Amino acid sequence: MIILGIETSCDETALSIIRSDSGNDVEVLADKTLSQIELHRQYGGVFPNMAKREHSRNLIPLLKTVLIESGFGNPKSQTPNSKQIPNSIFPILNSILNREPEMLELFLEFIPTIEKPPIDAIAVTEGPGLEPCLWTGINLARALSLVWGIPIVPVNHMEGHIMSAMLRKAEISNSPNYLISNEIPNSKSEILNAKRYTLNALAFPALALLISGGHTELVLIKGLHTYEIIGQTRDDAVGEAFDKVARLLGLPYPGGPEISRLAEQERNLSLLNAKRSTLNAIQLPRPMLHSGDFDFSFSGIKTSVLYLIKKLPELTEDIKKEIALEFETAVTEVLIAKTRKAIEQYGVQALLLGGGVVANTHIRDEFEKLSQAEGFTLYIPEKSLTTDNALMIAVAGLIHYRTRTEEVTPELRANGSLRLA
Ligand code: KG4
Ligand code: ZN
Repeated sequence: MIILGIETSCDETALSIIRSDSGNDVEVLADKTLSQIELHRQYGGVFPNMAKREHSRNLIPLLKTVLIESGFGNPKSQTPNSKQIPNSIFPILNSILNREPEMLELFLEFIPTIEKPPIDAIAVTEGPGLEPCLWTGINLARALSLVWGIPIVPVNHMEGHIMSAMLRKAEISNSPNYLISNEIPNSKSEILNAKRYTLNALAFPALALLISGGHTELVLIKGLHTYEIIGQTRDDAVGEAFDKVARLLGLPYPGGPEISRLAEQERNLSLLNAKRSTLNAIQLPRPMLHSGDFDFSFSGIKTSVLYLIKKLPELTEDIKKEIALEFETAVTEVLIAKTRKAIEQYGVQALLLGGGVVANTHIRDEFEKLSQAEGFTLYIPEKSLTTDNALMIAVAGLIHYRTRTEEVTPELRANGSLRLA
């Protein structure tokens, strides 16, 4: 079974093509992400309409790339007439893409000229995220579904992040599937570049901590596709707090990697016992640590940083590092404490981490320590799969498609505030 995954919920345009012929095996035929970070950096955050325009512009060229990389996208060899969209479906296609004229033009230039690829279904993010952006991916999925006659599987972006933790890298080997298949790339370099994953088998109930720029959620996974959100942020998401504190420190967007870089430098200094004494006494709050529930709040830490900075005569590079370290430590302590409590209360054997903030080395290390101390299994995505990508969407789509009980949705709408439960 071959699935095309499409992800456009925020500022990454991402497409992936996976193949899974049996059980838990996932073979990545192509996986590409175009990040818009450089574009948005100058504004200090993501501008939805600009992000949408970039998705519209980049989706078809990226599709071309992933099709070719997968060994598909071969040019049609028939008469010139066959290189056109049939009259019967042209008006429908036009109505699907009429809000994206640039994408329609690129679509018409490319799609009719290639053979229909052996893709079985299209998995696309329907939400949560920025609605104008989500629509671009959904409209591409609808247009391809129409022209190729294949179903669409809508995917919740947060379930995608959960799936990214489920993927365990398998040995890169001379995969038998690759070698016997005649429709899959046959050049040696492509075979060697192929990535194979195995989907971990999960014992239920499991717990997921999802921490990204838009979400902070503790999710109880009761069974396949059965979720309960047991805790969430009441104000800022963790990634948002990282980004806002970074801005206060005069660091570029996105702030998470910047703060973690400074914090690490400061941590190394204090390990060497060479800690400067400037702000040794700074203590940021650990909000809702003892609230008795599983909710979070991060805006108070950000406000404390603001007051702290206001009181300073000068925000030096050294002080920035000290603040970054204390901020990262405070956030991590809260995440660890709440998650540990949830693990105990619900008796779960497995914890999954997902979302962009999971790229943070200190957070990863602290959860590793927790899993060793408490004896649960920890599933962390490899770093490249922590931020938004289409592989996780394709994998979530694959599982839905395999376990579906009814035909998948033909009518699909973007839902910016879609929830897991
Ligand atoms: O999941 P993601 O790519 O997009 C959303 O769905 O939001 O997450 C992006 C967030 C940003 O807020 C970014 O600052 C944060 O993840 N992030 C990090 C790190 N790398 C990215 N936060 C802390 N430490 C990092 N190393
Ligand atoms: Zn995300």
